[in-house]
Amino acid sequence: MKESNNTVVFTGAGMDTESNIPDFRGKDGWWRKIDPKSVATIDSFHSNYEVFREFYSTRLKLLKNVKPHKGHYILADFEKRGIIKSIATQNVSGLHSSAGNQKLYELHGNINVIKCENCNAKGTLKDFLDGKSCSVCKKEELRPAVVLFGEQLPKDAWDLAYDSIKQSELLLVIGTSLEVYPVNQLPKLSKGKVVLINNEDLGLDSDFDMKIIGKAKAVLEQLDSLI
Ligand code: APR
Repeated sequence: MKESNNTVVFTGAGMDTESNIPDFRGKDGWWRKIDPKSVATIDSFHSNYEVFREFYSTRLKLLKNVKPHKGHYILADFEKRGIIKSIATQNVSGLHSSAGNQKLYELHGNINVIKCENCNAKGTLKDFLDGKSCSVCKKEELRPAVVLFGEQLPKDAWDLAYDSIKQSELLLVIGTSLEVYPVNQLPKLSKGKVVLINNEDLGLDSDFDMKIIGKAKAVLEQLDSLI
């Protein structure tokens, strides 16, 4: 990290579990209990709005008393000190921005932003949680601005993440199973070294120059003390 002039970080839900946000495919992950097709696809939004709204309301309520952990703050400090250039994240919690990271590319959107699927007007968290309709077009189509399965990723976040990872001399891949396309293709783009930091070994040995198997917060604390 000291020698690299261009270190980029790529995070997944494993970066947030130590802030008590469940991941998706880990042992207590969301998709161990719920079929994502029933709640996290654009079809489920249209065919089963109440179930969709219930699922995202549960996740939003969970976020109410959640805050970044030491690992998030270390990554924000690394950006301030020029040790990392940017973070591309799959996480929709907003914890990286709460911790202070500016160069942040939210590839799957942000769950705290509510919009109307019908007219794209902004909605309020309260209206969504209360099951209200859109205040502009009156349709019952409020939703979090997250990327549902089957939807396009936000172009600007994708382009920025793509360019920053492509130019990286070192890419730290933290807390992701790399199961979801197309973001799971990003680590292969780096022209430099790719390091996995994960609490389980994903295999994929040819994709990584080094694997640090451990919890994100502890590994980042060790990195911080070493640097
Ligand atoms: N430290 C390190 N790794 C962790 C920790 C932790 N504290 N907690 C969990 N992990 C690991 C898990 O073992 C798993 O390998 O992080 C990985 C999380 O993988 P997923 O749950 O699949 O999350 P992610 O890769 O971010 O999922 C990608 O799937 O459902 C969609 O849109 C959703 O953005 C999400 C996408």
